[in-house]
Amino acid sequence: MRNAILVLLKGCGAMLARSRLVYASQIFANHVPHHCSKSTAVNNEVNTQTSVSSSSDDYDSCLPFSKIPEPRGLPWFGRWLEYKLDYSKVHRRDLILKKLQAEYGDIVKETIAGRHIVHLFHPDYIKQVYDSEGKYPMVPPILESVEMYRRSNDLTPGLGNSNGEVWYKLRAAVQYILLRPKKAMDFLPGQNKVAADFMNRLDGLIAENGEVPDLNRWIARWGLESAANNCFDIRMNYFETKEGLELSNRIINANSDVFDLATKLYFSLPIYRIFQTPSLKKLFDQEDFINEEACKNLDTALERYTKAVEDGTLAEDRFLFLTHMLQSEHVSDKDLRTIILSILTDTLSTTSQILLNNLYNLANNQKEQEKAADEARSLLTSSGELTSAAFNSSIYLRACIKESFRLHPVGLDILRLSPCNLAIGGYQVPEGTYLCLNNYVHSLDPAIIPKAESYIPERWLRDSDWDKINPYLLTPFSLGTRMCVGRRFAEQELLLMLAKILTSYRLEWHYGKMHQRFRMLLIPDQEVKVKFIRRDG
Ligand code: HEM
Repeated sequence: MRNAILVLLKGCGAMLARSRLVYASQIFANHVPHHCSKSTAVNNEVNTQTSVSSSSDDYDSCLPFSKIPEPRGLPWFGRWLEYKLDYSKVHRRDLILKKLQAEYGDIVKETIAGRHIVHLFHPDYIKQVYDSEGKYPMVPPILESVEMYRRSNDLTPGLGNSNGEVWYKLRAAVQYILLRPKKAMDFLPGQNKVAADFMNRLDGLIAENGEVPDLNRWIARWGLESAANNCFDIRMNYFETKEGLELSNRIINANSDVFDLATKLYFSLPIYRIFQTPSLKKLFDQEDFINEEACKNLDTALERYTKAVEDGTLAEDRFLFLTHMLQSEHVSDKDLRTIILSILTDTLSTTSQILLNNLYNLANNQKEQEKAADEARSLLTSSGELTSAAFNSSIYLRACIKESFRLHPVGLDILRLSPCNLAIGGYQVPEGTYLCLNNYVHSLDPAIIPKAESYIPERWLRDSDWDKINPYLLTPFSLGTRMCVGRRFAEQELLLMLAKILTSYRLEWHYGKMHQRFRMLLIPDQEVKVKFIRRDG
């Protein structure tokens, strides 16, 4: 069925006449319909422990929303001025959150220029929100200004910015290919090829002192190349040719600007919602550039794909992502553009940063690194490839990745709009409230995680006290039906690259402690100057 005839009208925004296939299996494996008043398990993988009452009967007897503890600030403006006067507080938002929790408790309100945020710090409260979600978990956009860009450019908002039935249909189509383990594994051969080429390139980048100048950027280029290969089945040479280097630089810079500007706007007065401020204009310009590049790639891929279909030469393992998306009933042409945009660039703020964090943590912990390297050697084939069986058999490296997520996560929080009136911690949290599920603070709390500041992958092994750790404490990809749709790609690429790097190099770190900088998500606050020492040298 994959080779159903597709008639392509050229041009990125053009209408595509498609064969429509409905996949009966496009249903959510974890979806449990439920009402807000009942406490129900959210995810089969999660071994739920304590539960907090979420009965709506409690709601009326709770203290009103206005009584939720909050730091002092001017009405409506809240803490806006504080951030305005000292922007370093935005960059170290992790410290602000820690302080909020220490001073006000596990449920805290924060107002920033008219935006009322309720921070939930306790894993039990977080569980309560997940448990109360129905068929369509509601989220506010993570980058509100990017959503504005899409709206004003006649693009669809994309998965992370959609809610309700629209989100559900799109999500079903996308997750069929991205989240089903067997489907995601079909992308592993392509990911292996990109990783092998990157390893060849890496060797030549190592300076005499063992460091790779501009490592952060090289890793971003690897992420971008792998992402382009995943969605377009095209090699872009982002880390190989002069042209590729220049183009990847521009995309990486534009993406970085988008996050910096979106953060600035989030903490500013919402004037940008009324007219286009210089920051919003700059953000729109950068989005224009990224969008054009993604569209160009999509056009090229579509041309090659159509030719292969017409020639009858489309191999089973080619253009996997495009084939599926073009055949999906619920993916409009506009949706396709937005999804491509997301899959192409999401790695820059997620997988690529997480790989850097893992390298930093392994370089800092030699004993654990050697254990991980031992496992890495057993995972790769003689030609250095990761098979799906090997991926599934990894234990220690996975624990290392998990521990690195705890210490250096992708984000500080997961966002939600409360699905109904909730009684949380004795307070009324009305339907539609902007919620930040902050498990980061607790995952560094020594009262909850022994030796919280130390890197101990062993704590995540089954024969440890692993099952005593609250399952809602560390959820880097979130849980339930809204869980990260790129999770499998990210996990495959991370494990693959770490196995390859650890097999070839021993890593060292000779600098001070690395922190993270907040810009809606988190990135290392410095160049990750890991020293690479060849194991066979
Ligand atoms: C280490 C890497 C990554 C981490 C830790 C991560 C984490 C997350 C988290 C926490 C969410 C929010 C889920 C929720 O609201 O409940 C999310 C959503 C999402 N992620 Fe990722 N992500 C990663 C990589 C990626 C990649 C590589 C892609 C693209 C292929 C991607 C695409 C998405 C999309 C489209 C959503 C929105 C899903 C929806 O709302 O239905 N992510 N991610």
